[in-house]
Amino acid sequence: MCGIVAYVGSQNAAPILMEGLFRLEYRGYDSAGIAVMTARGSQVCKQVGRVRELEAALPRRLAGKAGIGHTRWATHGAVTQENAHPQVSEDGRISVVHNGIIDNAMDLREVLIGKGETFSSETDTEVVAHLIARSGGDRLEDAVLDALGQITGTYALAVTDADHPDRIVVATNGSTLILGVGDREMFVASDLSALVRHTTSVVHLDDGELATVTASGFRTFSKEQENTAKTPVSIDLQAEDVDLGGHQHFMRKEILEQPSSTERMLRGRLDERYGTARLDGLNLGPRELRGFRRLKMLGCGSAYYVGQIGAQLVEELARMPADAEPASEFRYRNPVIEPDTLYVAVSQSGETADTAFAVREVKRKGGQVVGLVNVVGSTIARECDGGIYLHAGPEIAVASTKALTHMGLGFALLALALGRVRDLSITDGQRIASGLLALPDQIAQVLADEPAIAEIAASLAAARSLFFIGRVRGFPVAREGAQKFKEVTYRHAEAYQASELKHGPLALIDASLPTVAVVPDDELKGRNLTAIEQIAARGGRVVPITHPGVAELAARGANITVPKNELELDPILLTIPVQLLAYHAAHALGLDIDKPRNLAKSVTVE
Ligand code: F6R
Repeated sequence: MCGIVAYVGSQNAAPILMEGLFRLEYRGYDSAGIAVMTARGSQVCKQVGRVRELEAALPRRLAGKAGIGHTRWATHGAVTQENAHPQVSEDGRISVVHNGIIDNAMDLREVLIGKGETFSSETDTEVVAHLIARSGGDRLEDAVLDALGQITGTYALAVTDADHPDRIVVATNGSTLILGVGDREMFVASDLSALVRHTTSVVHLDDGELATVTASGFRTFSKEQENTAKTPVSIDLQAEDVDLGGHQHFMRKEILEQPSSTERMLRGRLDERYGTARLDGLNLGPRELRGFRRLKMLGCGSAYYVGQIGAQLVEELARMPADAEPASEFRYRNPVIEPDTLYVAVSQSGETADTAFAVREVKRKGGQVVGLVNVVGSTIARECDGGIYLHAGPEIAVASTKALTHMGLGFALLALALGRVRDLSITDGQRIASGLLALPDQIAQVLADEPAIAEIAASLAAARSLFFIGRVRGFPVAREGAQKFKEVTYRHAEAYQASELKHGPLALIDASLPTVAVVPDDELKGRNLTAIEQIAARGGRVVPITHPGVAELAARGANITVPKNELELDPILLTIPVQLLAYHAAHALGLDIDKPRNLAKSVTVE
């Protein structure tokens, strides 16, 4: 969703801002704009549609050494040029770009209208621009602080003042903003991917923090005007990580990265000798880990489905009750927070508003919450008491793939550590550790079958509707399969427990409705086979995703087979083919795979 870039330095700002906006495109947006501090004051250009349309609409001469840019995902007001950011004050002096929502914008707007101000957009952000412009202070910092004192809500803001074109003032509250430190130039972005081309030296702003950036450096400070001395940190990210690198789509690039990314994630985190996991970032010692009696995983969409895989891993390896709940529901139902429950927030972006609110709800009620998060320094990562970074690298495609696999690994590591301070034997711990270490190679084996899976996917793309079925360990895999398929192909796909088919949905089965069946070689194999027979008997086509040992399916043809791992870890590997099925079905349909309609990469609104 919305993205921010800003630049101040010795170079021309406009091309740098535009490059940053192109980098932010993957987050999802409906309009874009920039403001550049030129010799003739602040010049603002905005456009509905893609960033390339904004680029085409830019005036030829747009010279200035400082500016701000934004990609907008409409919340307050329709998708129009007027509502795109930057929003400006009535006199055109102050320009503001904003991620987040100002809760009291309507009230403030009324008050300002009462004082004679006129507004040219429906946005909450324009209110902020007006408030800053009205503040009497000489310094832009003071005017921004004055405005912040009047607003409530979440925000990442970048503000320019045509009277002080040498500086940009930024502020955050519940929305990420990162400073990039260059050589006599400074960058600001809401996402690391917009910075990596220019610098790897960054400063993550904390909630409630502000900063003034000029060509010669930055100063961070609190709302109480106290300096908050921050030292830049070096990020382990290359420009190639956010490039297509010869691939047609980021989704496929990210699927294919999984053997190396998972190998990197596991490195140093397994103690094979004692059959356990080293998870220093959790900030929980063995005694504290022992003290928990249950776990609850909180995430949204696909992250919630992996949370279900995680809950199962914890129940199996640590024999502790565990379940997963959509964070979007949890936060609204006044949940009972138990002192001996460990809450686990799981999120690729670390910015999903529903998950962040769930974390706050747990903390507000005194609960303990750790995060399984991919983006280092993101809101959720910062707000949790500790956690496991997923180290999947940047994920640009809207449909999540590699980050989900890494979430599965993160849960396996957590379950192993919890198990080993309880009743999981050293031998079983070593068995799981070896299974985890075998996964990267086994993922590569599944990916080697891509041409065959692509063929099956193309045939499934012809169906208007599909079932994905599984049981117990296979069910979250089926849910993720259906989710990924509908997300990128726009085909209706529904996940069912194989056991539930006969209680209703079997009525839908005919030759036009294929079923993808997740059939691990486990104790439920026979029951899964029965469900498949019931579908076949009604003329339904079945595509099994299974293990080589399921001899009954080997003879059927058009199977997708994945290598067998340890029973508990099998769901992680069974998920790889559903990613390929979705990708190749969407490819066969000629769709915009990396940016499915109506979706954004990180859902930062409710
Ligand atoms: C599906 C997908 C979404 C996300 C969900 C949570 O492919 O990407 O369902 O899993 O929006 O996002 P994060 O993990 O960033 O919190």
